[in-house]
Amino acid sequence: MAGDAPISLRGVTRTFGSGSAAVQALRGINLEVPDGELFMLVGPSGCGKTTLISIVAGILRQDAGSVRLLGEDLARLPGRLQADFRARNVGFVFQQFNLVPTLTVQENVALPLQIAGWRRRRAMDRAAATLALVGLEARLDAPPDSLSGGQQQRVAIARAIVHDPRILVCDEPTSALDREKGRQVMDLLRAIAIRPGRALIVVTHDTRVFGYSDRIATMQDGHIVRLVRRRFDPATAATAEPAPATVPL
Ligand SMILES: Nc1ncnc2c1ncn2[C@@H]1O[C@H](COP(=O)(O)OP(=O)(O)OP(=O)(O)O)[C@@H](O)[C@H]1O
Ligand SMILES: [Mg+2]
Repeated sequence: MAGDAPISLRGVTRTFGSGSAAVQALRGINLEVPDGELFMLVGPSGCGKTTLISIVAGILRQDAGSVRLLGEDLARLPGRLQADFRARNVGFVFQQFNLVPTLTVQENVALPLQIAGWRRRRAMDRAAATLALVGLEARLDAPPDSLSGGQQQRVAIARAIVHDPRILVCDEPTSALDREKGRQVMDLLRAIAIRPGRALIVVTHDTRVFGYSDRIATMQDGHIVRLVRRRFDPATAATAEPAPATVPL
């Protein structure tokens, strides 16, 4: 629907397990990420960050509440169309990278395109070009296990952006990178996010990259407890003070 935010969540809850072992990972999340926004999500370990972005990406299903992406309520689409929608529109950088060990770096990055129906040759060409964006053009044929942690993380980022998704969710995308590589990745992610009709959520503990956000939400125990709007300034993004003044909701 025209005018809808690319990402919109209403009353989203999710519990794992049952009875006395139940963990309420999300306790009613309301969130709109508008066009062209880089939205950051921070908070202590276990507060629900990965659960939240996994639901946005359609990897996990919420127990209650609605999730709309690009105006579509995915739960109302038949399963095959949900998968098609995700393959076309959503990119995910996993906290643990999740690279396929039996494929080369280039094949890993080509995989989402092949799943979306691209021919291998074209998918491999696009994968090579995307790997060049993250500085890995010399490692196309390497198995992922032979790369450093930071290199594997950049492969995971290339795989998430190779199909130019309109919704991108990244779980700790700079955790294994030094300051300079982290800055390059955030520049790249921002360039992707700020185009019209797109939105990006970055989960991070990395205070060095807070300056790249338009808003930062703090989660605690399954809730968003604070939301801070920043004015993004490319001149100071890489050196911005880590802790902006917080505004209670
Ligand atoms: N598949 C699962 N089964 C059972 N419990 C789960 C599962 N996934 C997450 N949880 C629980 O839900 C809560 C939120 O987990 P989540 O992974 O979203 O946290 P997080 O904020 O991403 O933490 P971290 O910063 O450590 O990555 C935690 O208590 C976790 O143990
Ligand atoms: Mg997590």
